[in-house]
Amino acid sequence: MNSKPETVTGNDDQDLKSCCANVYQSDLARFLLGDSFHPGGIALTEYLGTLLQLGPDKQLLDVAAGQGTSAIHLAQRFGCNVLGIEYSAVSVERANEAAQASDVAHLVTFKQGDAEHLPVSAESYDALICECAFCTFPNKALAATEFLRVLKPGGMVGLSDLTRKTAEVPADLQGLLAWIACIADAQPLERYVQYLVTAGFSMQTLEQHDQALSDMVREIHGKLLGAELLVKLNKLQLPGTIDFGQAKTMARAAATAIKAQQFGYAVMTASKV
Ligand SMILES: C[S@@+](CC[C@H](N)C(=O)[O-])C[C@H]1O[C@@H](n2cnc3c(N)ncnc32)[C@H](O)[C@@H]1O
Repeated sequence: MNSKPETVTGNDDQDLKSCCANVYQSDLARFLLGDSFHPGGIALTEYLGTLLQLGPDKQLLDVAAGQGTSAIHLAQRFGCNVLGIEYSAVSVERANEAAQASDVAHLVTFKQGDAEHLPVSAESYDALICECAFCTFPNKALAATEFLRVLKPGGMVGLSDLTRKTAEVPADLQGLLAWIACIADAQPLERYVQYLVTAGFSMQTLEQHDQALSDMVREIHGKLLGAELLVKLNKLQLPGTIDFGQAKTMARAAATAIKAQQFGYAVMTASKV
């Protein structure tokens, strides 16, 4: 496992969570990523919903729900009730506004909370999703235990996350930005399985969706190049400051690592027996 980035000091775990939440609540994140903050976008979310057999009678928990895009889409597509838990208060507010403005306002709510201490009762959900966030949790074992606690017997968890296929993470992909971008602490697939199985889950699905990750990194790199040019020409004002050099170096390093099959993206489902 990688050590945590040196730039994080003090109460490391809380700092990491806040840092991650601050980046993803920023307008810049939305500029670079769009509404859906994970590889594969809403199409992969919908696929996960199918694997979890969501339907109108189901209670779904979306852990680390971001801006609420997945939760709202799943309620629209499957008619399930969804509670989204998210560390960032700003993202929770935006997600609740988006839900209120949608046609599923009666089905979807968001609440501030920490994946490692979920603010919901035991055995209250039929299904739980956590997209592109598990690998940022400092205490993954605790989060997996929480997932098990809140699910009803027979309930299902669906994760989608970055996978690391080699022992070493390249130097360019080890800093704080890489940590927040879910790269620095990406786990080998078998480690995710180990977290889930140790918590008490029985694995159901394990699939690689590496192309979704390549596509996402290529899109981000393209947006960075375009934005840098427009900023230089004074034709674009970015919603926030960005170190283009650092961001491009990281995007290039990520693209190279993905091409060399050092990183991938996986979908996993498991049930509470
Ligand atoms: C890459 S984004 C993914 C957001 C959303 N799941 C999606 O796919 O659009 C990671 C999200 O995890 C949230 N997060 C990070 N640590 C968290 C924690 N300990 N508990 C709850 N949310 C957390 C961040 O605030 C951020 O919104």
